[in-house]
Amino acid sequence: MIDQLTIDKIRDAANIVEVISDYGVTLRKRGVNYVGLCPFHNERTPSFSVSPAKELCKCFSCGKGGNVVHFVMEYENIGYYDALRVLAKKYGIEIQERELSDAEKQAQSEREGMFVVNAYARDYFQNTLRNTTEGISYGMAYFRQRGFRDDIIEKFQLGYCLDKWDSFSNEALAKGYKKDLLLKTGLSLEREGQGNLVDRFRGRVMFPVHTLSGKVVAFGGRVLNTDAKTAKYQNSPESEIYHKSKELYGIYFAKRAIQQNDRCFLVEGYTDVIQMHQSGVENVVASSGTALTQGQIALIRRLTFNITVLYDGDSAGVKASLRGIDLLLEEGMNVKVLLLPDGDDPDSFARKHNSKEFQEYLKAHEVDFIRFKADILLHDSANDPVKKAEAIESIVKSISLISEPIKRSLYIKETSEQLGISEELLNDGVNKKIKITAEALKKQNERNKTVSPEGDESQTQDFSSSLPAQLEAAEFDDIEKLIVQMLIKYAANVLYVYENEETGEQTEVRVAEYIKSDLDNDGLKFHSELYRRILDEAVQHINDEGFDSSRYFLSHQELAVSKLATDLMSERYQLSRYHSKYQHIPTDEERLDRLIPQLMMDLKNEVVLSEMKKLEKELLNPAVASDSVKCMEIMQRYVNLKDIQKALGRELGDRVLIAKR
Ligand code: CTP
Ligand code: MN
Repeated sequence: MIDQLTIDKIRDAANIVEVISDYGVTLRKRGVNYVGLCPFHNERTPSFSVSPAKELCKCFSCGKGGNVVHFVMEYENIGYYDALRVLAKKYGIEIQERELSDAEKQAQSEREGMFVVNAYARDYFQNTLRNTTEGISYGMAYFRQRGFRDDIIEKFQLGYCLDKWDSFSNEALAKGYKKDLLLKTGLSLEREGQGNLVDRFRGRVMFPVHTLSGKVVAFGGRVLNTDAKTAKYQNSPESEIYHKSKELYGIYFAKRAIQQNDRCFLVEGYTDVIQMHQSGVENVVASSGTALTQGQIALIRRLTFNITVLYDGDSAGVKASLRGIDLLLEEGMNVKVLLLPDGDDPDSFARKHNSKEFQEYLKAHEVDFIRFKADILLHDSANDPVKKAEAIESIVKSISLISEPIKRSLYIKETSEQLGISEELLNDGVNKKIKITAEALKKQNERNKTVSPEGDESQTQDFSSSLPAQLEAAEFDDIEKLIVQMLIKYAANVLYVYENEETGEQTEVRVAEYIKSDLDNDGLKFHSELYRRILDEAVQHINDEGFDSSRYFLSHQELAVSKLATDLMSERYQLSRYHSKYQHIPTDEERLDRLIPQLMMDLKNEVVLSEMKKLEKELLNPAVASDSVKCMEIMQRYVNLKDIQKALGRELGDRVLIAKR
C-alpha cells in the first residue's frame, strides 16, 4: 500500500502534459489546453484534450480520460496503485512498500505477471551476455562482428541465452517465477511427457520487443550461424500480452524521433532498426518480416501520418509488398518509398556509409509511392499491352484508396502525365474503383445489419439511397409549389394512356398518380406536410365521379389547405412562357404531358445539385477527408448522384423556367 502523503507527492510531481506526451501522444497547444489524437481509440482528427491547469484530460469522442493517474491506468491497463508506482518511478519518488504476501503474489493478474516475467528474462539475458564466458565469447562477439556499438547494445537491451537446455528456466523457477507464466510467455517450453522446462531461445542472441510504453512483450532470438538448419529467428508466441499484429519493433525507441521528424521509416528487421539508430536515424520501426497490419498502422498513426518504406535494392519481394502499401494508403497515410542500392538492406547500407552519407541518401532518394509503383510496373510491362493494362489498373486502384479528394486529383494529374493517359480516363477508372469498394463496404454493412424491417419501398436502390428521403424545408419550395399548383389545378387530368401490348388493355395515368409514383420511385417526399397531404388526397379522389380538384382544394374543410389553394390559384406562382417563338402559346393544360415530367425532373435536378454541393463541402471538411471509410461512402453517393444527373440531363430536354415571384 502507498500512503496518502506519497500519493499527494506523486500527483504534485506528475505533469499531465509531459506524462501523456511521453506515452507517445503528440499534443499541440490550442489556447490554454492541448489537443492530440486520442490514444484510446482510432481516430484521425484530434479529439483528445488535455488541460494542464485543471490537470485533467478527456477524449471528446470516446469519453475516456480523467486525471494523470487515470490516464496511466487506462493506458497501461493497470490498477490505481500500479499507476501511482509507474508515476513515482518516472519522477523519482520513493515508495516504501512491504514485501508482497504469498496471497498477494497469487492475486497478481496474469498479464502483470507475464510482464514481470518478461522483464526478468530481459535482465537475465542481458546479464548473461555481459557476465558469462559463453555470453561474451559468442553473443557479444556476434554483435561486435555485426558492428553494433556498446551503447546501442545497451539501449536496445540486447542479450544472450546460453546454449544449455534449461539454464534460464531453472534459474527463473528458483527465483519463484511460476512455471505457468514461463510457459504462457513462451520463454520456456515443456518437454512432452516429462514435465520439466527447457529454454525456447537457447544459444541465441536476444532482441526484446517493447510496447510503445517500453514494456517487454516478446523476444526475438537469432541463431549465431545462419547456416544452421534451425530457423534464423525464433520469436515469442502470441499470448495474452503479445499480439504480433499490434506491435512494431523499435516503436518505444522511435516515438520521440517520429514525432519530432513527423515521419516514420519502416524497415523489415530487428537489425535494420538497430543499425539505423546507430547511424543517427531514430524514427524507424520494423514490421518484423511480415506484412504490415492495420493495428500496426494505427500505432504509427498516433505519432505521424507520414511514412517512408525502405526496400532492399534487390528485393524480389518489392512487387509483392506493393500490395501491402495499399493498406497504408487506405488508412490515410502519406506513403513514400525508398529503394536502397542493389544488394543492400538498411543494415548493410548503414554499415558501409557514415551516418551523414546515410541520412543524405535517405533525403535524396525518397520517392512518392504512386510514382514508384508506376515506374516499377511500367518498366516491367514496357512492350506488353496486356501487362501494361494490368499495371495501370493496379495504379488506379492505389489512387482510389487515397481518401482526400484533393490529394487524389493531384495524383491523377501527375500519373496522367507519367503514363500518357488522359486525366479523364484515369478519373473514370478511379471513380469506378471507389464505387466498387464502396459498394462492397455497403454490402458488408448490410450483411452486418440485422434484417431490415419490411415495408421499405426503395426499389430503385441507387437513386433513393443517394437522395434525401425528405426534401429539406424551403430549399426547393419554389418548384414544389409549382408542382402542388399543378396538382390542385389538374390532379385528375389524364397525362398518358398506356396500352398493354399483349392484352390491349388501356390504363390512364393521371397527373396526381404520376407525381406520386415518380416521387415514390426516387424515394422522395415533399418537404411540407401540407403538400404531402394534398398529394395523398388528390390521389385518393381522382377516380371519384365528377371530381374537380381545384374546387375540392379551394373549399377544403381545413383552412390551411384552402388558403394554400387560393394562394396558388392566383397569379403569383406561375410558369414563364418559354416558347415565345410559337405563334400559339399553348396553355399549361395543353402541355401537361411535357410540363409535369419536366417539373419533376427539374425538382430532382435541383435536389441532386444541392446534394452534390453538400457532399463536396463535406469532403473538404478535414475531419471527413481523413476518414477513408466516410470518404468512400460520400464518394459513392457522389458518383450515384453524378449518374442520376447524367440521366436527368438526357431526359430533361428543354428546361422549364420558373418565374421568380
Ligand atoms: N524473421 C523472423 N523469422 C525468420 C526470419 C525473419 O521472424 N525466420 C523476421 C525478423 O523479425 C527479422 C525480419 O523478419 O528481423 C527480417 O528478416 P531478415 O531480413 O531475414 O532478418 P534481419 O533482421 O535482416 O536479420 P539478419 O540481418 O541478422 O539476417
Ligand atoms: Mn539483414
